[in-house]
Amino acid sequence: MHLPKFVKIVEVGPRDGLQNEAQLISVADKVALIEQLADAGFAEIESGSFVSPKWVPQMANSGEVFEQINRQAKVCYSALTPNMQGFEAAVSVNAKQVAIFGAASESFSQKNINCSIEESLARFKPIMAAAKKHNLPVRGYVSCVLGCPYEGDISAEKVAEVAEQLLLMGCAEISLGDTVGVGTPEKVTKMLTAVSKKVPLNKLAVHFHDTYGQALANIYASLQFGVSTIDSAIAGLGGCPYAKGASGNVATEDVLYLLNGLNIQTNINFNKALTAGWFISDLLGKKPVSKVSQAFRAQVQ
Ligand code: HMG
Ligand code: MG
Repeated sequence: MHLPKFVKIVEVGPRDGLQNEAQLISVADKVALIEQLADAGFAEIESGSFVSPKWVPQMANSGEVFEQINRQAKVCYSALTPNMQGFEAAVSVNAKQVAIFGAASESFSQKNINCSIEESLARFKPIMAAAKKHNLPVRGYVSCVLGCPYEGDISAEKVAEVAEQLLLMGCAEISLGDTVGVGTPEKVTKMLTAVSKKVPLNKLAVHFHDTYGQALANIYASLQFGVSTIDSAIAGLGGCPYAKGASGNVATEDVLYLLNGLNIQTNINFNKALTAGWFISDLLGKKPVSKVSQAFRAQVQ
């Protein structure tokens, strides 16, 4: 069994997590969370998104957040940008990477970004061209890679096709999203087998939501397959506003505990990550979803 020696964790809590928390978080509190995460050693932090505030009010203050972060040079502060309007807003506040987001499901694409898969790819092209001019890397998301809340099963071949399109457009990394958390390890392996024929493994990330409690098992299957970039959200924040019932992303603390147990390096300070998770959970007035976080908190209380 060949597991990677190092895993890059992409911390998506401030974006994917907070976009689906009912409570609006102030600019100052988001900035404090992002700074704590940077201090814990996360090298890539998805810090906001430049989407319609009517669709996702939780992200409406992303511009101010980007402006107010006391930045660390080694940290990539990234943002979601669905169209040129979003891209220009992200560039104006000095986002270090942008992400475009498509789907392997037609229905989800319509519900999430109000256009077909084909139209979305066409919309992304000017973003790719502009990002090239600005020398900004672009991350490409594919949602619904293991199932869709509206269509059910999604074929691995369709996922591979969309992922390949994003790669050919110039995305530096493709993140494969189990948006509703329905996947199981065997499905993950089948999907990665199809996608890795079109996209090199070192350009793939996995992005699991934990709705059915399968995220860690799915991550383990992905590691065994050779994937070494994992998206996760501190405290297991969030979900997806266009995927009813989807729970949060897999909790970063749980992923770190798994990776530490496998002797896989991450360069992240576990205790500082725990503290950041407690900070945001206390602000939201809820218990962290992460079992690891709960267990450690019980020990210090
Ligand atoms: P639309 O309505 O089709 O766009 O929305 P439009 O161009 O017709 O514009 C309509 C209005 O939106 C206009 O305002 C625009 O100015 C405004 P109005 O004239 O009505 O006042 N608008 C914007 N405002 C701010 N920033 C922008 C922007 N663009 C248009 N960039 C759009 C299309 C994509 C914008 C819309 O559908 C939208 O914002 N959707 C939100 C999608 C979203 O954020 N989803 C959650 C993130 S994806 C996710 O979580 C999945 C992921 O985690 C992976 C996984 O788990 O699978 C990545
Ligand atoms: Mg997500």
